[in-house]
Amino acid sequence: MTLTVNGEPATADNVWEGESLLYVLRERLALPGSKNACEQGECGSCTVLLDDVPVCSCLVAAGQAQGRDVVTVEGMASADGALHPVQQAFIDAGAVQCGFCTPGLIVQTHDFLRRTAGVPSDADIRERLAGNLCRCTGYEKILDAVRLAAGRMAGARD
Ligand code: FES
Ligand code: FES
Repeated sequence: MTLTVNGEPATADNVWEGESLLYVLRERLALPGSKNACEQGECGSCTVLLDDVPVCSCLVAAGQAQGRDVVTVEGMASADGALHPVQQAFIDAGAVQCGFCTPGLIVQTHDFLRRTAGVPSDADIRERLAGNLCRCTGYEKILDAVRLAAGRMAGARD
């Protein structure tokens, strides 16, 4: 199958029709950033952008991604290696413990904040990230990270 991943054309060989997009990314295209935690669409750790929309890549059949545009957490840093403001905020706020949920949260938060003016309310953050589960942090530092990133991104837009 062929698709675009993080802005580059990609080809995956020997794809079986039952494979998920998550499997293709991790096992065939050497992009292990998207995590496989539940493989049932429950945890959000596998979140990627598919044609600019966040999806659980474990629920997307590989064939559904044929010819489409995928962005993973690996594609969020700048070409010069500078972290995306959301990535930096998760580090600065101490919102990463085991890190298993982090890639999905970062992709989801990036999509949320680019569609949000200013710093969202806690209720809005909780609602938008409700599909991304974390077993470690208790979520408070994740909320801190989202608010921190939102403030920095809003400041950069001013
Ligand atoms: S691994 Fe896809 S939602 Fe949990
Ligand atoms: S940091 Fe471990 S699951 Fe979130």
